[in-house]
Amino acid sequence: MPPVRGPNAVDIALTVNGHAATAHLPSQRSLLELLRGELGLTGTKLVCNAGNCGACTVLVDDRPVYSCITLAVACEGKRVETIEGISKDGELHPVQEAFIDHDAYQCGFCTPGQVMSIVALLRSKAKPTEDEMRRAVTGNLCRCGAYVNIVKAGMSAARRGTK
Ligand code: FES
Ligand code: FES
Repeated sequence: MPPVRGPNAVDIALTVNGHAATAHLPSQRSLLELLRGELGLTGTKLVCNAGNCGACTVLVDDRPVYSCITLAVACEGKRVETIEGISKDGELHPVQEAFIDHDAYQCGFCTPGQVMSIVALLRSKAKPTEDEMRRAVTGNLCRCGAYVNIVKAGMSAARRGTK
């Protein structure tokens, strides 16, 4: 995405996946555009671009947000985490492992958003009920219909404990 100069361009500073990041961008640019276009973090998916599908879910200060309808400038000084940031030392996050073990994806396009929503839930509640797990991914649509296995994977990750 080309940099835009002009009166509405602003400087922002935030933390992305544990690293300091800065950007000079139009004030109306979304967090998703910043992540994918400026920072090259394409693991976060763009689907509806309208807050309807959840494919673009990332964590801002541990809370899941739709990055397509979150302004980048609103994240000034905040801690943003994407799917690229949750594995540690070359090892998958337990939620990612559970998705593989439970066959919780088909095309995989919704998967980063689903995983981030579950990571957020397990940080706030280590042992959620199945109903709470279902509600955590309510805002993440899966056109392939992998919902049953997504919830199974989330519950499995909760049982084994997350890092
Ligand atoms: S791409 Fe953000 S909610 Fe669909
Ligand atoms: S696995 Fe294809 S949209 Fe969810």
